Amino acid sequence: MKNLLSTLLIASAAISLPGYADNVSGKALVDQACQQCHDNGMYSRSNSILQSYPELQARVEFCENASKAHWADAQINQVIEYLNDTYYKFPKP
Ligand code: HEC
Repeated sequence: MKNLLSTLLIASAAISLPGYADNVSGKALVDQACQQCHDNGMYSRSNSILQSYPELQARVEFCENASKAHWADAQINQVIEYLNDTYYKFPKP
């Protein structure tokens, strides 16, 4: 029983960590590559051009290309998740 409990604790720590890591590195990526043209206030402006999660994905891909950051798909996805969790809160399709 004791073993089962510690196994469960380790398992739940392992499950919760990636989400946390995603947001930390998502923020680091944005802070490092996305402030040449606009600051983070862009993501909470009242006249946002984004209405949905797919539009957010497309915008991040577009802006990542414009920034010439050359991120891998995994990094682009981290930033989409980070911006959605922190600012947009669109339901995921
Ligand atoms: C080359 C300049 C440029 C760079 C670099 C840039 N952006 Fe943008 N971004 C813009 C402009 C301009 C807009 C506003 C577009 C409009 O109003 O139609 C914008 C808008 C956005 C929006 C939509 C904001 C809203 O809610 O209306 C998001 C999200 C965004 N950028 C994310 C990023 C991310 C993530 C990065 C880094 C990978 C980044 N941008 C780098 C130019 C840039």
